[in-house]
Amino acid sequence: MQKTNIPQAESKSAELVAQNLEQLKQIFPEVIKEGRVDFEALNDLLGNYGDTAEERFALNWAGKANARREAQKRSTGTLRPCPEESMDWDNTENLYIEGDNLEVLKLLQKSYHSRVKMIYIDPPYNTGKDFVYKDNYADNMKNYLELTGQDKKLSTNTESDGRYHSNWLNMMYPRLKLARNLLTDDGVIFISIDDNEVANLRKVCDEIFGEENFVAQLIWERAFAPVNLKKHFSESHDYILCFAKNLDTTSCNGLRRTEDADNRYQNPDNDPRGVWQSDNFSVGPRIIEKVYEITTPSGRKVLPPEGRCWLLTQKRYDEFVKDNRIWYGSEGNGVPRIKRFLSEVKAGITPMTLWKYVEVGHSQDATQKLKQLFDGNDFFEYPKPVGLIQRCLELYSNEDSIILDFFSGSATTAHAVMQLNAEDGGNRKYICVQLPEPTPEDSEARKAGYITIPEIAKERIRRAGKKILEEQKAKVEKEGLFTEEPKKLDTGFKVFKLDSSNINEWDSDPGNLETALNKSLFNIKTDRSEDDLLYEILIKYGIELTEKINSHIIDEKTVYEMGAGSLIVCLADSLSTAVAEGIGKLYKEVSPEGVDANCRVVFKETGFNGSDEVKTNTLLILKQHGITNVATV
Ligand SMILES: C[S@@+](CC[C@H](N)C(=O)[O-])C[C@H]1O[C@@H](n2cnc3c(N)ncnc32)[C@H](O)[C@@H]1O
Repeated sequence: MQKTNIPQAESKSAELVAQNLEQLKQIFPEVIKEGRVDFEALNDLLGNYGDTAEERFALNWAGKANARREAQKRSTGTLRPCPEESMDWDNTENLYIEGDNLEVLKLLQKSYHSRVKMIYIDPPYNTGKDFVYKDNYADNMKNYLELTGQDKKLSTNTESDGRYHSNWLNMMYPRLKLARNLLTDDGVIFISIDDNEVANLRKVCDEIFGEENFVAQLIWERAFAPVNLKKHFSESHDYILCFAKNLDTTSCNGLRRTEDADNRYQNPDNDPRGVWQSDNFSVGPRIIEKVYEITTPSGRKVLPPEGRCWLLTQKRYDEFVKDNRIWYGSEGNGVPRIKRFLSEVKAGITPMTLWKYVEVGHSQDATQKLKQLFDGNDFFEYPKPVGLIQRCLELYSNEDSIILDFFSGSATTAHAVMQLNAEDGGNRKYICVQLPEPTPEDSEARKAGYITIPEIAKERIRRAGKKILEEQKAKVEKEGLFTEEPKKLDTGFKVFKLDSSNINEWDSDPGNLETALNKSLFNIKTDRSEDDLLYEILIKYGIELTEKINSHIIDEKTVYEMGAGSLIVCLADSLSTAVAEGIGKLYKEVSPEGVDANCRVVFKETGFNGSDEVKTNTLLILKQHGITNVATV
């Protein structure tokens, strides 16, 4: 094993110490408090779980150390593919994952590390009426399977519980911690919240993301009329906290300048470059080389006003005239002005922190629109408006970003991603995660056959996708030749469901050696499919779940290959050396770059039927083809 060299303390300059502090802060922002290192927190993170009795400037609550440790544990679960509940499985790059988000976030750590540009979440606000998922640190996967195996309403976190805020914070802390790892270096997270937990949430985010990465505390005007039964105030807003992973490398796109939003842009001379607005062509203070006489198209002679000069030199002005970039008014007789085209204005409008419902929609509006999508049926309480999430996307996502929502409810985020892609031709992809929370027994949704929230959400995505496509088609028909053919919109989604691992190892009971031994010989659970296992391998090797998987038949066995040969998997039984030969050849075909040290080949242990000879020869043959990274499951 490689040894790490530890430089001697006295050789470290102050600068180096500062650099080290900075690096530590990048990896573990929560251990730097007011410029000092919280060694106790660091110990916890590195596996030495000490007591955190000492007081310091930090938000503390009952269970915090455990919550911190929980974020470090591996999941014992997996994500099982569900093509039958998906849409356009073969082509889509969107993901819909059913399961407890803590386990799911753990499972996504490898494949989506530093890959997600924007996260939007709308967690339970801890109102005392909403349920707050209780993790079981001893065996969270078992806890999940037990909880979801029963069709009961999940219990709420009530104020009479002595650990009211602690319970909520214990739920949020590990999830936010894991979510941060998934953000790209210029990624941001938006979190909807109200007065119940906004103060605690902000402190926790200061700790997890670093105070210096705070972007804004937005106010969303969610109601348009007061609730008169309220004793004091009728709250008409929610908050949205926004934190960056690293504010220094993060930029805001600004709000789009559209012709509708900004009618200062017009096109009185039908310029083929589109709408424009005119700007002053004279500037101050006066620079003598930029003072010259201009003759307007009508023949009028104009000089810059007293103390000012023209914006450009005469040579540049002449070039601008030739390019039809100077405007003298519709009569051609006015003072020259410069044309600024909307298409050339790069920076958007700087957003303000107060988001009014006239701009992004209010809560009732969101409920109404969702109802319309479901033919007038009210299936989901308190969805967020599509416009609200669309605004977050406009500000901080790029056209091909991955967007994550791990409290996705009715899947408004999926809807907003599709809507924005349709509007600006982008190819953003979403990952929605949602617990299979049962719908209330007497609800309209249950009566209509929707047993869980994901069932409503998946149907919402289908309906929203269809509607957006229809709207696109209608626009093309209306505008005919004058509109560009819209880019193909991805309205599909791949469904995965959280479950225990496909491999028995996790379930082995040390108290019952015989069963454990038997299980390790027949390592793979009998009720699991080849696809289940294939995706578990992808997750373990850190490959994205939407990666294109190519199937090949070699000596009558199916061999899966992805990422130009970076992973090759064969889960067939009764393997022969001909399969190894075929894999070697396949690898050369799909990897034109030549042998890549990262190529990994995975077989099923039982695929060798206990034959050491086939196994040894397989390894030898693959080695001859330059492949040394071979594993079995
Ligand atoms: C306030 S709702 C989100 C609503 C969503 N923004 C919308 O517009 O429809 C919060 C959602 O998080 C889900 N949830 C709560 N705990 C969860 C957990 N541990 N894992 C995944 N989802 C969870 C709840 O079932 C609920 O649907």
